[in-house]
Amino acid sequence: MSKLTGKVAVVTGGSKGIGAAIAKALAAQGASVVVNYASSRAGADEVVAAITAAGGKAVAVAGDVSKAADAKGIIDTTVETYGRLDIVVNNSGV
Ligand SMILES: NC(=O)c1ccc[n+]([C@@H]2O[C@H](COP(=O)([O-])OP(=O)(O)OC[C@H]3O[C@@H](n4cnc5c(N)ncnc54)[C@H](OP(=O)(O)O)[C@@H]3O)[C@@H](O)[C@H]2O)c1
Repeated sequence: MSKLTGKVAVVTGGSKGIGAAIAKALAAQGASVVVNYASSRAGADEVVAAITAAGGKAVAVAGDVSKAADAKGIIDTTVETYGRLDIVVNNSGV
């Protein structure tokens, strides 16, 4: 069993760059990962595909974290999808 098996993580800005690398690293340790993105759906889907191809669990969830309703939506979707939330990596930015 990996260190993060059973844990659920949100990575904001997970569609590319540092966030994508963090999302893959958390998944490799066993976490189920919500890969948030603002506009790069294709990038987020690629990250999810890479994680699932490696045997991990991930979903892509859209949302602009600068908007309160979107931020709440990301968290609500996480809990609806995986039933809990353990880790938030607030990476999004430019
Ligand atoms: N790279 C560096 O050398 C460096 C140095 C110091 C600090 N940082 C910080 O590290 C973080 C990641 O950097 P990076 O180089 O990996 O950036 P990046 O490749 O430009 O990726 C930025 C990520 O943040 C997302 N994003 C931007 N605004 C968002 C918003 N309002 N809501 C949700 N997601 C949003 C983007 O999503 P979309 O693609 O969908 O827009 C993308 O997934 C940033 O906070 C940056 O300031 C980076």
